[in-house]
Amino acid sequence: MFENLKPVAIDPILGLMVAFKADNRAEKIDLGVGVYQDDRGRTPVMASVKEAESRLMKLETTKSYQGMAGDPDYNQRMMELLLGKDHSILSTGRVKSIQAPGGSGALRVGAEVIRRARPESKLWVGIPTWPNHIPLLGSAGFDIKQYPYYDMDARQVDTEKMMETLRQVPVGDLVLLHGCCHNPTGADLTNEQWDSIADLALERGFIPFIDTAYQGLGNGLDQDAYGMRMMAERLPEVIIASSCSKNFGLYRERTGSITFIAETSEQADIVVSQAMSTARSIYSMPPAHGALLVSMVLGDPQLRSQWETELEEVRLRIKSMRNLLCDSLENNAAGMDFSHIKRQNGMFSFLGITTPQLERLRTEFGIYIVSSTRINLAGVNSNNIKHLTQSLLTVLE
Ligand SMILES: Cc1ncc(COP(=O)(O)O)c(C=O)c1O
Repeated sequence: MFENLKPVAIDPILGLMVAFKADNRAEKIDLGVGVYQDDRGRTPVMASVKEAESRLMKLETTKSYQGMAGDPDYNQRMMELLLGKDHSILSTGRVKSIQAPGGSGALRVGAEVIRRARPESKLWVGIPTWPNHIPLLGSAGFDIKQYPYYDMDARQVDTEKMMETLRQVPVGDLVLLHGCCHNPTGADLTNEQWDSIADLALERGFIPFIDTAYQGLGNGLDQDAYGMRMMAERLPEVIIASSCSKNFGLYRERTGSITFIAETSEQADIVVSQAMSTARSIYSMPPAHGALLVSMVLGDPQLRSQWETELEEVRLRIKSMRNLLCDSLENNAAGMDFSHIKRQNGMFSFLGITTPQLERLRTEFGIYIVSSTRINLAGVNSNNIKHLTQSLLTVLE
């Protein structure tokens, strides 16, 4: 049987990680990997999470099965984090959430439920998008359509082309939107653009499927939630896939949730029963550990305030690295405008250099960047900024 299989090429980002590890140069820099790093290049466990972990060790009395929906306390607290504690929809019963194995698991469960509800619906994905969106959602069986999202030359959201395409989306189709900190471009929708897309969704009858993997890393926990909170208020149906990988640093614990907003509370109950049966048919139950930590951090005033402070430090460090890189390159260095890096949000931006320049950065200077030129700004730090700037200026000359 296995003789029929062909090897699958390694994911380019993982391939880059392998090459980076094998590189012996002390000055090497990894701007490819998609995780947060502090100024010393580490991806630490947050202190609030560590404290929750040590409390959990003492409090946990069983490892028995938890059920397909995961931890109810976590589900409630996640809805409050995403939508805001006082959001009017929370008391209507129209919104329901279940725990999922990371943002990826949440996206997949959401996609499977949509396929069960309306198999003829197509999914519209902005281009470019997180490279795993298409395999992850496409393998649920979606017919995937594209809408233009980013203007590579202007280095910003291509509002006109995006809206022009979204105006053609038929009733009942899904439109995938990034909640904040767009991966890979860093170019987020403004509040006005979110409002216009909500107007269009009401007019055309399409349904937003919002992927929010970076709440709190852009402009703040509430600011980053504008789009989904407004849509939850105005639209009859919204689906939100969320991840705690980045904002709680829980990457390997696979902690996420899938949230459904339905027209009525009865429909929301049915949707959630379908989501649980979907989970049962794929992985049965989500991993418990990360969700128990998140629930404890969000539910304990002292841990929560500590977590918010830590998250704010992460957010501000990324912002300061954006400013530092742009200023070190003196923006218009070698005739290139890097000011978009300052304007954009979250960990990523496109550098916008050529493939030969990218190659030179890797071979001559040990600077690893994925082929799209997406850089992780969290990979920049006070120790490597000089080498990074000098190398970039050299290849740009
Ligand atoms: C846009 C986007 N969505 C979803 C995810 C998936 O997150 P998780 O690691 O929680 O599965 C990521 C992770 O990089 C992401 O960038």
